[in-house]
Amino acid sequence: MVRLWNRDLIRRDILTCRGWWHGLIGAALILAFVFGQICSLRAHPVHTESADYPFVIGFERFYSSRDDDDYLARGGLILLNELNCVACHEPPNQWAERLAGVEATNLHGVGTRLDVLDLEMMIRNPRFVKKDTSMPSMFAGSDRDLGEVEALKHYLSSLKYELPPYPRGNIEAGRQLYHRIGCVACHAPEVGFRPEGLPENAEIELAGLPSTPMNLVDLYDLQALTHFLLGSNEHRPSGRMPDYQLGENEAADLAAYLKAGPDLVLPDKLAGALKKDDDFRADKEIVAKGRELFVAKNCVACHALPGQLGEQQLNKSKPLLALDTTSRNACMSERPSGGAMPFYGMDEVQKRAISLALERMASAPESLKSDEVDWRMKQLNCYACHERDGVGGVEAAREVYFRFEDLSYRKLGREGHLPPSIDHIGGEGTKELLRRSLSSSGDRNRIRPHISGCMPVYGEDISERLIKAFEKAKPTSGENAN
Ligand code: HEC
Ligand code: HEC
Ligand code: HEC
Ligand code: HEC
Repeated sequence: MVRLWNRDLIRRDILTCRGWWHGLIGAALILAFVFGQICSLRAHPVHTESADYPFVIGFERFYSSRDDDDYLARGGLILLNELNCVACHEPPNQWAERLAGVEATNLHGVGTRLDVLDLEMMIRNPRFVKKDTSMPSMFAGSDRDLGEVEALKHYLSSLKYELPPYPRGNIEAGRQLYHRIGCVACHAPEVGFRPEGLPENAEIELAGLPSTPMNLVDLYDLQALTHFLLGSNEHRPSGRMPDYQLGENEAADLAAYLKAGPDLVLPDKLAGALKKDDDFRADKEIVAKGRELFVAKNCVACHALPGQLGEQQLNKSKPLLALDTTSRNACMSERPSGGAMPFYGMDEVQKRAISLALERMASAPESLKSDEVDWRMKQLNCYACHERDGVGGVEAAREVYFRFEDLSYRKLGREGHLPPSIDHIGGEGTKELLRRSLSSSGDRNRIRPHISGCMPVYGEDISERLIKAFEKAKPTSGENAN
């Protein structure tokens, strides 16, 4: 069965704003004012309420505490991959291809993106910076060595690059673009934003499905954010944040909008990384020590060592099949365990799903097998835009943001403004269309220029894996077979 609601039935956006407003009718003006302030703080996409556990969209959208064990176990498999447990706990051979793990943020240039204080927090306790981050804390245990944190900070802050002089973006243009080209398929729309041309009496529903958090934006340097948006596949090799092939002005506009926050004005201190750390000097010897620690502390389990190609020496831990399936200790613990064990802060549903997946992997692996295309589409959130076999597609409340670029296509109805269903894709014959759609270069290669939302592009490895999976699959019927 396919679940289309937010897994714990806490429709976050509604709880944070609409519910409050309803409850406030007739309440004292002062109270209304206070709550209004809070709401406006959350109205901007960067400031939506966050979950208190690592956010993994493929799990969040399709699995919940109400699922039966067989179904939830498949969600656990997604978590084992997306939280990169498999980088330290090796999966059995027959799962190696499916559970290949994900490569985390490319830290090349991270010292240009984040200032030293934010870097320190990100190393020491990333959940403090971004509550629902999928980066576990490696230094949250009581046995942590703050000298090591310091050394890593020196090392990462030394990883800088010169940025080209990007134009200063236009906040309002960025705001329009953000809501028009499909960012809001995955990230939150701004509460209260009305797309241009929408009839005045048309009501906009608040999004009910979970949105991917993006609050590192508040910490990123403005220019570095523009740079990131121009090459997101390079910055985030996982492909979870795909590349929109933006032009420089578009990326600058988007960056300005995202940094501008709820008041839509750019904060005074924009160039964080390069200016704020005036009195901080990375010490050469400590940098070298930090670089060693980056390997020794197993950061390389998830991040490539900047400037170095090829496989790193990894400290592997117990293989996946040797893990205690019912464990609520070590990496599954409620509190940081210290030592070499990462702290994820998962919630009970996530832990249950993982336990079920581990148990079935050993005893009944067949029950976990699923369609590979479906697996990859959940991982990469293609379902945010595309429906396949009755699953996924743009959430009804977000359809208003996908506009007709050309009004004469109105007669096509939903097909004229929403991303197409991809039921017809599958088998040998669709290879060229797939290749063109997934990795077209340059000009946002459009087949349907009448749709405002765009098809983002993916890195070569990811595209090739997807193409292979689709080639092996058959076109689907459009009726939910799950
Ligand atoms: C950076 C490496 C790393 C990552 C990533 C990692 N672990 Fe661990 N894990 C360890 C280490 C180290 C131990 C300590 C035991 C050992 O040395 O095998 C451990 C122990 C465990 C144990 C207890 C072992 C037992 O049999 O009692 C479980 C269960 C576990 N991890 C699950 C997970 C899960 C689930 C994830 C992903 C959400 C994960 N781990 C991610 C390094 C890692
Ligand atoms: C298919 C879903 C998807 C779409 C569409 C998408 N994003 Fe993202 N975005 C993500 C995911 C997932 C992440 C977190 C990536 C990770 O885990 O490293 C992310 C991260 C980000 C970040 C980094 C912030 C942070 O806290 O990590 C920014 C900025 C961002 N996205 C902006 C945009 C903009 C602007 C657009 C539209 C041009 C867009 N995204 C479209 C999925 C998407
Ligand atoms: C289990 C995988 C994993 C391990 C181990 C890990 N990271 Fe991360 N790291 C991530 C992920 C995933 C992100 C992206 C987080 C997000 O955007 O929410 C990230 C993000 C970061 C960032 C922010 C970069 C940016 O530009 O946004 C820094 C800094 C960082 N990691 C440093 C480290 C260091 C130092 C270590 C070792 C002590 C480490 N990481 C270990 C997964 C990991
Ligand atoms: C932000 C929304 C969005 C996301 C995410 C997205 N797509 Fe698309 N996709 C589109 C749009 C819009 C089109 C139509 C482009 C056009 O025809 O001009 C499209 C077109 C396609 C097509 C061509 C279909 C046809 O009949 O022409 C395929 C295949 C496709 N996407 C597959 C994928 C896969 C696989 C993923 C995930 C890896 C994905 N898409 C992620 C929006 C998206």
